[in-house]
Amino acid sequence: MIYLDNAATTFPKPQSVRRAAANSVMTMANPGRSGHRPAMAAGEMIYRCRVKASEFFGAGSVENVIFTPGCTYSANMVIKGLLKSGDHAVVSDMEHNAVMRPMHTMSEKGVAYTIARTGETDDETLASFRDALRSNTRLVICTHVSNVWGQRLPVERIAALCRQYGIPVMTDAAQSAGVFPINAEENGIDFICAPAHKGLYGTMGTGILIARHPELLKTITEGGTGSGSLSLSQPDFPPDKFESGTPNVPGIAALSAGLDFVKQTGVERIHDHEVKLVTYLYDRLSKMSSITLYTPRPNAMRNGGLLSFNVGNLSSEETAAYLFEKGIAVRAGLHCSPLAHRRYGTEKRGAVRISTSYFNTMNEMESAARAISMIAR
Ligand code: ALA
Repeated sequence: MIYLDNAATTFPKPQSVRRAAANSVMTMANPGRSGHRPAMAAGEMIYRCRVKASEFFGAGSVENVIFTPGCTYSANMVIKGLLKSGDHAVVSDMEHNAVMRPMHTMSEKGVAYTIARTGETDDETLASFRDALRSNTRLVICTHVSNVWGQRLPVERIAALCRQYGIPVMTDAAQSAGVFPINAEENGIDFICAPAHKGLYGTMGTGILIARHPELLKTITEGGTGSGSLSLSQPDFPPDKFESGTPNVPGIAALSAGLDFVKQTGVERIHDHEVKLVTYLYDRLSKMSSITLYTPRPNAMRNGGLLSFNVGNLSSEETAAYLFEKGIAVRAGLHCSPLAHRRYGTEKRGAVRISTSYFNTMNEMESAARAISMIAR
């Protein structure tokens, strides 16, 4: 099988990641609760992972790294933990339902929000965000890279704009963490939500929230933390405030090894490799008359390793099924991002998405191009 659904989760995982997850299951127990060796081993591993993630994302402090069940959960923590009735928020028109559904829930609780349209250029996108700000805007959310179209949004410039008005910014780095550099401190981003299992090569069911201003967030879950147990009140210090219950030890062990893998390989090298692959495919597809490509040719500054298209009059699901018959795994449909599809007029039909990882090769792109051309004919 040629796996080209890495935007859903990277596959395969590096051997070091598989080993780290297996080792944690064999040697570690519940951290922060007991003083015996397996518990201490887990606690030490988690602390080391927190340090690595803090450096990787520029969290400013190890305590600002919060482990979560996933990027979606991280986004919920910010949206529901920060906004209250009477507040206004701005989101981009490329947001995933991980952002849009909690925003919708908050809108039923008195929060208003405006959708800023992405433009052909970063200047246009920035202008849309500027126009959407109001005096009661309390949060601005912008995905870093669209999970449907692969283009990068100018989050750093949006953060600089919002800083002038003291408005916190959250970015959904689901498709960019490990592929594009992103640094909370240097880029002035208050909250970064990231999955462990995509560009960081960890396992599913693990995520991160980088909270440079954790004091702005109320909790959305409370419970045992192994600290301050006599009090019925949740601890008010991070990360304990936000990490109740037994942590996902195998997931964090895998993430720790994944962060090492990405650091050793190099974010720039991973990004360049992936963009080269999708650019090759784009050039092949653009010569096929029955293929519809919706976005401009990938560009290293603006794109991740992701490309969406349709073939003739086929539904995106039909094309994906034909591709899978030829041994190629992709994702079709709406990718849980109806806004992003509406933006390009594909909300009825969806699109076929090819998404790469560091492990894909040019030969695989050639096989995908041939398979698509056979379907197109
Ligand atoms: N959000 C993930 C995707 O785009 C699952 O496929």
